[in-house]
Amino acid sequence: MTAIIVVGAQWGDEGKGKIVDLLAENADMVVRYGGGANAGHTLKVNGQKIVTHLLPSGVLHPRATCVLASGMVIDLAILLAEVRELEARGLSVRERMVLSPRAHVTLPFQAAIDRAANAGPQSIGTTGRGIGPTYSDKAARIGARVGDLLDPTRCERVLEQLIEPWRTRARAIGATLPTAEEAMAYITPIADELRPMLGDASIAVDRALKRNDRVVFEGAQGTLLDLDHGTYPFVTSSNTVAGGACTGVGVGPTQIHRVVGITKAYCTRVGHGPFPTELVGSAGDSLREAGEEYGATTGRPRRCGWLDLPALRYVARVNGLTDLVVTKLDILTGYKLIPVCVGYTVHGEFTEEFPIDSLDEASPVYEDFAGWTEDLTGARTMADLPETAQDYLRMIEARVGVPIAMVSVGADRAQTVACHDVFAGRS
Ligand code: GDP
Ligand code: IMO
Ligand code: MG
Repeated sequence: MTAIIVVGAQWGDEGKGKIVDLLAENADMVVRYGGGANAGHTLKVNGQKIVTHLLPSGVLHPRATCVLASGMVIDLAILLAEVRELEARGLSVRERMVLSPRAHVTLPFQAAIDRAANAGPQSIGTTGRGIGPTYSDKAARIGARVGDLLDPTRCERVLEQLIEPWRTRARAIGATLPTAEEAMAYITPIADELRPMLGDASIAVDRALKRNDRVVFEGAQGTLLDLDHGTYPFVTSSNTVAGGACTGVGVGPTQIHRVVGITKAYCTRVGHGPFPTELVGSAGDSLREAGEEYGATTGRPRRCGWLDLPALRYVARVNGLTDLVVTKLDILTGYKLIPVCVGYTVHGEFTEEFPIDSLDEASPVYEDFAGWTEDLTGARTMADLPETAQDYLRMIEARVGVPIAMVSVGADRAQTVACHDVFAGRS
């Protein structure tokens, strides 16, 4: 049996969706463990593009069970729309879904509060999908859980308990709140369709592992957006790191075999917050255009910059990475020299550590690596890559101290170089 956690190794949008879709080809179950519709995971198969926000990215493989675990925050209307969209394309989804009754629900008013708060001077540039309010309601123990809202005998009481405490604050930021009855009217038709999908995610995963099934836990966002280990306060409101899979699903750490970190060959960030290797001006613009770096959820332009090795080492440590996947290597074609951050100076001292607590006072130190001019999108083995591209990958592997399992050279499922089988690990 193999249980694999896939995490974003940067600030999100590393290409997790593409890689989880690939891994799911050989998996029996794919599990989302945290976050909500702030995620936007792009899958491209034979030129057709699909973006999932809530459904696990293994959903295109008809034999994969798709689990939405209790660590998630779920906008039920978005979930239902995603299920229907795939069904309209001829893919049956609901029979192989397990929707945790303990996941929390994001209601439209929480998204409105998120957007109203986000418009102010303290904005961190959220996706406006209601993530912060839903997780803060969960922590405040007034949240509405999927199981509560799908149960007609509990729904109204739970909605009242959630909405009433918001009245004063909502007025102050100009957001309007529904009454519990209005919220009920919104929930009821959705609830009827989603109720058959309810199931205990922890038990489903446990049974799968006992059957020796292959289970992929799909992270959302990225490690540097983690509530505890990211660039706080410019983070999301959940634990995006590998440990978040254990708490978010109800699976013990001893059950996990491998932790795979996905990183771009360069770096992007969407939203505000520190980004030491960011390229501003035309250099950033050309990387953005080459990489088509626009958010899959909000369409916002992503900030672009060079790879940050101290950050990657930090990410390898806090997740316990066993494997790396490098994506978008094709986008670096044409750069004569590729600068990479190899360390920082903080108050005049050089360090190879990622100075997460003093990024404002830290300056990246770069080394240049030889680039290449060849189009990489047709490469399917390491030997197909130019020598300098292979050197770039070997340099990342050596300096992060984690073996590279796959290299992605294009958005399509097929545009991938496999170095070793992630399920088996490198021998
Ligand atoms: P995720 O949130 O981590 O799943 O990533 P997103 O889907 O938000 O963003 C990654 C973008 O890069 C998507 O548009 C993908 O189709 C695209 N992509 C993924 N891997 C590659 C690659 O190797 N090369 C290119 N050119 N595009 C890629
Ligand atoms: P995927 O799964 C990139 C960012 C937002 C903002 C911060 C907080 O596609 O990689 P939130 O709406 O979560 O309260 O916003 O986190 N953010 C993401 N950035 N990819 C994501 O998801 C993100 N999810 C949240 O831009 O800076
Ligand atoms: Mg994304």
